[in-house]
Amino acid sequence: MTKPVSVLFVCLGNICRSPTAEGVFRRDIAAAGIDRLVTVDSAGTGTWHVGEAPDARAQAAARTRGIELSTLRARKLDVDDFARFDYVLAMDESNRADMLALSPQKYQHRVRLFLDFDPGNPVREVPDPFYGEAAGFEVVLDLIEAASKGLLTDITEDLRANGLR
Ligand code: 4NP
Repeated sequence: MTKPVSVLFVCLGNICRSPTAEGVFRRDIAAAGIDRLVTVDSAGTGTWHVGEAPDARAQAAARTRGIELSTLRARKLDVDDFARFDYVLAMDESNRADMLALSPQKYQHRVRLFLDFDPGNPVREVPDPFYGEAAGFEVVLDLIEAASKGLLTDITEDLRANGLR
């Protein structure tokens, strides 16, 4: 049976930022006891890494925070994803522009920046860590962990308003 809420995290390669967001958010919804109510997935706008596990640096950084990413596999964002997922969350403005170019008009309101869920932070984008140093993966995790809490709050309120929790 399909779950009442669904979330898709999107970046460029689907090997660094969006699988990290998927892992963090899966941990957070499990801890909140709502994992049976929320579908979580991630995808990339690019095709270079389709079928690959997350970047070894992303896996290592996540593991230090108790998050296992090794079983995830990259896939390309598909036009049907905009109909399937309630939240289609971009890591940066470039991802968001590519997603809006692919999304049918009627689903464009589902496309948002993930960091919109951390409104207290003036940073709007999760920076691409792929060509940078290991420290970039810690920055990615910090930004994602904060936005994940905000997204969890929003979805928990939604579920309550709908009598599902
Ligand atoms: P991601 O990082 O979008 O966070 O998965 C990247 C991974 C690969 C590439 C770019 C960004 N690449 O150009 O191959």
